[in-house]
Amino acid sequence: MDRKWWKEGVAYQAYVRSFNDSDGDGIGDLRGIIEKLDYLKDLGIDMLYLNPINKSPNEDNGYDISDFKDIMDEFGTLSDFDELVRELHQRDMKLIMDLVINHSSDEHPWFIESRKSKDNPYRDYYIWHSGRNGTPPNNWGCFFGGSAWEYDETSGEYYLHIFSKKQPDFNWRNKNLREEMKGVIRYWIDRGADGFRMDAINHLEKDHSFPNGIVREGEVYGDFIKYVQNLPEVHGYLKELRKEVFNSGYHVVIGETGGINHENAFIYTGKDRNELDMIFHFDMHSVGRGERPWERKPIDLIQDIKKKMSGWQLRQEEEGWCPLFYSNHDTTRTVSRMGDDEKYWRESAKMLATLQFTQKGTPFVYYGDEIGMTNAKGFELKDYRDPSAFIKHRELVEAGLVSEENYLLGLYYTSRDNSRTPMQWDDSQTAGFSTGTPWIKVNPNYKKINVKDQLQDQQSILMYYKALIALRKDNPALVYGNFIELNKEHNKIYSYIRELNDSRMLIVVNFFSNEPIFEIPKNVHLEHSKLLLSNYKVEAGGQDNKAAFKLRPYEARIYRL
Ligand code: GLC
Repeated sequence: MDRKWWKEGVAYQAYVRSFNDSDGDGIGDLRGIIEKLDYLKDLGIDMLYLNPINKSPNEDNGYDISDFKDIMDEFGTLSDFDELVRELHQRDMKLIMDLVINHSSDEHPWFIESRKSKDNPYRDYYIWHSGRNGTPPNNWGCFFGGSAWEYDETSGEYYLHIFSKKQPDFNWRNKNLREEMKGVIRYWIDRGADGFRMDAINHLEKDHSFPNGIVREGEVYGDFIKYVQNLPEVHGYLKELRKEVFNSGYHVVIGETGGINHENAFIYTGKDRNELDMIFHFDMHSVGRGERPWERKPIDLIQDIKKKMSGWQLRQEEEGWCPLFYSNHDTTRTVSRMGDDEKYWRESAKMLATLQFTQKGTPFVYYGDEIGMTNAKGFELKDYRDPSAFIKHRELVEAGLVSEENYLLGLYYTSRDNSRTPMQWDDSQTAGFSTGTPWIKVNPNYKKINVKDQLQDQQSILMYYKALIALRKDNPALVYGNFIELNKEHNKIYSYIRELNDSRMLIVVNFFSNEPIFEIPKNVHLEHSKLLLSNYKVEAGGQDNKAAFKLRPYEARIYRL
């Protein structure tokens, strides 16, 4: 058992911009986070992961950095940062920072230099290419809509951006650039960061022959994924960073890696790889999503959930470690996507949390999930903030390819802004997030869903999270224990045992609103067990000597065997 602080702790991801605004400008900030550290500590949180806080013109909310060694004006100052680190460490909590090193802002001084001329010393920090007869070098479309190339008049060449045109991609083949990035990482380690989440890290290398991608039906641009994602050279860059900057054995390094699943994750996290400790995958992002953004598809428990979740569990028996998370700032709200955010809102949010805290890996609570925050209800186009909402609106609706109605429904089901609305602290105006006007609209359901109410209600989702976190801390079997799946073919119930030495725990959840029967496996003796936690009242001894019992909608139970 290879013990590590980052395996045993529970993490919390705060989208700083939306967490807590201390100065009334409508944007969350570092001092706002400091004000809430006791709340997090009380919940049982050990590590805080913050989305990017570096200086940025905020085209993509901080994922476009213009100074890697300073703090974004809206978020505070370096001294606020130092105070945050002190306050965290005093509470025995750790800080995980977002490291956005695949690209910078086009307002970064290096890019400003780079675009000045073809022979500028910074030219090669980025990826420049000449056009083809007045059109971009190839047909790649970027992730946020539009071409992946932007023409620059000064030199008459194009630069590559796989995200927005205000996020030019770095050229990691350039040694000076790599040295600069190591300097950035050392700088934050020296200032107290305990770990990093490396943004879009499997994109560091691109195919420099720039072939055209296949244009799929209904699409305007060519698909570039295989030319910009998970190329073999990425491993070299990661090993170099591990060897030269992440070599203390203390810091945790997590990579965000699209296109990676439990079957191939070990290429980054395997024991002898010396690359990453964990990866943030995209396995749960599209659960329930139909062919097109406005279409839904019923969840297939075996294919969509069990195969993926259990796949990660079993893989970890051999090597690697994974974060346990169903939401982040790039997807929609957990309970809206994977549960029921209406009738069984409370039950389903608790059921999903039960899975998150009883599987092997490090749980990452996405801010607001602990109170069951939902997708943004009743948003109109103007209420969205993600630039891609508008770029794609032009590309699809204005071009007559998709109706306005479907497009809006698509945003409700898939927009990242669903997960970026202000934290719902109480039922006062702006949900207690700010004394000013929030940068993005508060979800109108804040009067029903907020921290203040849930702290006073023993049956709340928040209280259930607290209980789950405490349970995980008291039971190393939940952290390090083996994972033994039961009734694998059941398409309504997910159940498994976690086992470490002589400690055995049984987890049973009903993933849907029907009432299926749980057949107790022969080798599981519930008559000697103790029910530790459940999202329903279970009568004492209710399952004694029975071979089976019925589960209520979204019911979840944890037993000690
Ligand atoms: C990652 C981030 C996302 C951002 C993108 C560009 O995918 O998680 O929010 O837009 O990288 O930096």
